[in-house]
Amino acid sequence: SPVITPRPLPYTVAHRGLSAHAPENTLAAVKAAHRVGCQWVELDVQLLGDGTPVIWHDNGVRRCSDSRGKLAKLNLAKAKALDVGTWFSADFQGERMATLAEMLELLNELDMGLNLELKVNRGRDAQALVDAALPMTLGALPAERLIVSSFNSQALKAARGLEPDAQRLRLGILYEKPTRQWHEEAERLEAYSLHVDWRRLKEKRAREIKDAGYRLLCYTANDPVAFARLWPWGVDSVISDDPSLFEHHLPDSSQ
Ligand code: G3P
Ligand code: MG
Repeated sequence: SPVITPRPLPYTVAHRGLSAHAPENTLAAVKAAHRVGCQWVELDVQLLGDGTPVIWHDNGVRRCSDSRGKLAKLNLAKAKALDVGTWFSADFQGERMATLAEMLELLNELDMGLNLELKVNRGRDAQALVDAALPMTLGALPAERLIVSSFNSQALKAARGLEPDAQRLRLGILYEKPTRQWHEEAERLEAYSLHVDWRRLKEKRAREIKDAGYRLLCYTANDPVAFARLWPWGVDSVISDDPSLFEHHLPDSSQ
């Protein structure tokens, strides 16, 4: 089993990899994040039609590839035939969709942490996603280098069902805005963290979450000056398309 090296969650997490400077959710975006010194990335996982877990955000491939149609209609061969780099820039021409397995291997090579978002788009099966993606992920990364998050409560419940030990699987609950029931949900799931939209977070809720002992992550912020008022509330990490923007705007500039 993997060696667990204790280390804190860094102040910044690269959203979909370094998505400001490379095509989101690709191996190239994770390498780019590593090159600028990021220790953690947030990535979305879903299943292809043949059940292969891949790193992808949308229900379809139109926005981030040279083709169109639903991800759920593709098998691995068809998915690998897409160019998922050129839409972003000619510099990334020929970039291929990453499977979760390929991505986990890269993260281990680079010794990076992963916030894996179980992305349950409309019409997709939460349980099937968890069954295919979670054992592979838990087998590849030590608990200290992994947070599994979702907006989808079924996916979170299925994940906790598969790994009941909260020390072995850190779960993050994603909220657009934390509901009043956040604490009940967090206790029920034995969650590690809450991940909230920074524009909708209020100080009172932030302090409640921190006082209850949870980690608090905020997505997706690319304006370090506007974000500065949130750090004193106890926010642990910001998920950003370009963490280097935050370099001189962190609570402890030595980080
Ligand atoms: O995990 C934080 C953030 O990625 C959630 O929203 O749509 O960017 O996956 P989205
Ligand atoms: Mg995401």
